[in-house]
Amino acid sequence: KDTPIVILNFKTYLESTGERALELASICQDVADETGVNMAVAPQHMDLHRVSEAVEIQVLAQHIDPVDAGGHTGSVLAECARDSGADGTLINHSEKRMQLADIEWVVSRMRELEMMSVVCTNNVMTTAAAAALGPDFVAVEPPELIGSGIPVSKAEPEVITGSVDAVKKVNPEVSVLCGAGISTGDDMKAAVDLGAEGVLLASGIILADSPRDALLDLVSKV
Ligand code: G3P
Repeated sequence: KDTPIVILNFKTYLESTGERALELASICQDVADETGVNMAVAPQHMDLHRVSEAVEIQVLAQHIDPVDAGGHTGSVLAECARDSGADGTLINHSEKRMQLADIEWVVSRMRELEMMSVVCTNNVMTTAAAAALGPDFVAVEPPELIGSGIPVSKAEPEVITGSVDAVKKVNPEVSVLCGAGISTGDDMKAAVDLGAEGVLLASGIILADSPRDALLDLVSKV
């Protein structure tokens, strides 16, 4: 918990799909090795296996469905994600929202399978609600800033401080991350200074001319 964590969500960008997912994950591995920063990647499901075979940093699924093994065609089964090398999953991303009962189901399943859970939220109230479910992390991301290039840590610092305060009251065991528009070392430092234990980000790194340089800059001030 002492070193901030950086989770790179590969989403469905072509720049982070297939062979390019592998390249990007290797860059994340190198940056983790060079800087000691705790890095994790969240590739698409189809890329989980190849990525997890190639790197030692943590690999997360982007989503898991609230289903047990059996007849659920098209669903993402927790055990399948685990066997494909996922160490955990994002849950309830703004681009893949879930119902409260389903979020709770997946958080519990992750706990049973000893996998990591990162519940994404959109504001302070939902962060407090998510913390009550006892995930490993909550990651607050104001949806209007996602992919905007405008960093949450500068545009809406009160969302981060409010989330940190709320989580301390509800469940101090839960770590708070933030995301949306984060891309530079200054953005990440501001997030950590506001009390976040790390960041969840995507476009600022994935779409950069040099993802390696962008990542090195991101972690240069923490
Ligand atoms: O999951 C990370 C995310 O939603 C933030 O996206 O592109 O603003 O870093 P981005």
